[in-house]
Amino acid sequence: AAVLGLTRGSLGSFGLLTAPGAPGAPGASSFHNEPDTDPSLPANRAWGRRILNQVETSRLGLDTIAAARVSDAAQLERLIETAAAGGAAWGQRPGAERAAVLHRAGLALAANRDRLIEVMAAETGKTIAEGDPEVSEAVDFAHYYAERARDLDSVQGATFVPSKLTVVTPPWNFPVAISAGGVLAALAAGSGVIVKPAKLAQRSGAVMVEALWEAGVPRDLLVLVDLADRELGTRLISHPAVDRVILTGAYETAQLFRSFREDLPLLAETSGKNAIIVTPSADLDLAAADVIKSAFGHAGQKCSAASLVILVGSVAKSERFLSQLTDAATSLRVGRPSDPVTQMGPIIEPAEGKLLHALTTLGVGEQWLVEPKQLDESGALWSPGIRTGVAPGSYFHLTEFFGPVLGVMHARNLAEAIRFQNAVDYGLTSGLHSLDSAELAEWVDTIEAGNLYVNRGITGAVVQRQPFGGWKRSAVGAGTKAGGPNYLHGLGSWVTDPGRN
Ligand code: ALA
Repeated sequence: AAVLGLTRGSLGSFGLLTAPGAPGAPGASSFHNEPDTDPSLPANRAWGRRILNQVETSRLGLDTIAAARVSDAAQLERLIETAAAGGAAWGQRPGAERAAVLHRAGLALAANRDRLIEVMAAETGKTIAEGDPEVSEAVDFAHYYAERARDLDSVQGATFVPSKLTVVTPPWNFPVAISAGGVLAALAAGSGVIVKPAKLAQRSGAVMVEALWEAGVPRDLLVLVDLADRELGTRLISHPAVDRVILTGAYETAQLFRSFREDLPLLAETSGKNAIIVTPSADLDLAAADVIKSAFGHAGQKCSAASLVILVGSVAKSERFLSQLTDAATSLRVGRPSDPVTQMGPIIEPAEGKLLHALTTLGVGEQWLVEPKQLDESGALWSPGIRTGVAPGSYFHLTEFFGPVLGVMHARNLAEAIRFQNAVDYGLTSGLHSLDSAELAEWVDTIEAGNLYVNRGITGAVVQRQPFGGWKRSAVGAGTKAGGPNYLHGLGSWVTDPGRN
């Protein structure tokens, strides 16, 4: 089967991405993606065991977070002044100089791979298999944005004026890669940064920031904060010295930020409710594996995760396909991330609200193909669930859950499947499993999602190859895709040089 990654380009173009950096290609570069650790090598397995042995007792990041505590408005004010002044000086440095620091940051993140995996496992329950590629992605952001920083200096006739101060508010589910992505983009653009890690993943954010400080990023340029209360958060977001906010989180959070300050320059990647469509022409074995990985990787807690699989025509009646889904889901080993056999870890907090409802309650006409089970007292360890019979317009069809539960829908034809996906408010990722080029063309022309994947899972966008960003309610504010060629342009403005028009 052809395995292709497609993406809508950040300039609105769309197409198959050619090999990046190919000689003569636009933006030719020496960038290459950081490889993940190969667990088949005995030395790497021993390395992995050493990390996992430390997870249960890990104290990484604790001291740094304690030091970053901000308890009153005066203290916050001083930090804002510090980072804005740091940013003003840094923004004067040539792009090549900033790039050199970014490359060192990339090396430091790579050198801290074990610590970063350990703290994510300890704090958020992320398995080593999920944490390892996350570190690679963070390293990629550093080297990729370093090159883009140099590009900013080479535009003829215009000068890039960076933001002085960018606030980065990353999510808990990718506490290293998405934090690093925002921070490194802002630094590459020439801005000072205040980063406020998500409450549930503060230590992971702190260990990432420690690596950047170690690499020579000045502490008055990159400021880490742990805000004591929401009022300080509101004060920070609405502060006039803050000229960009990079948010990854819920759509509602972006709306809240906007309510603090109407003219807030916000670059926000928000919620998703994503589907993989499987047509009768697909390689069904590959499709089943990709659906399982996309639905249950990191226990489904990814904005990019597959929450729905839409089976077209005869696929709905394929017992083989449904039994593959069932077998794969029921054989996933669920457990603590410190256990080397664990394939799916816990959800970050005991299930409640919409997620608990999705794990325990069927809608009209729905049945469990695989019923999720609570596996421990805490309510955070759940086995994966798959429900069939999800009806168009139903609660499960339209609601984001962020956990290990997948819904199966049936569509008479591809056009109907696309209508089902487009009926949701969000448009982050979307997948098509098909070996028919006419189907591919139809889907590409009509599907409403920022990131499109063909015959591949729908999580794990790769820096440069699959710039990542949403559409509809999956994006709020101006901005282009993270890990793409124009992301830094959203972190400042261009002024035409005198004598030009
Ligand atoms: N960038 C993350 C992914 O693609 C969210 O899964």
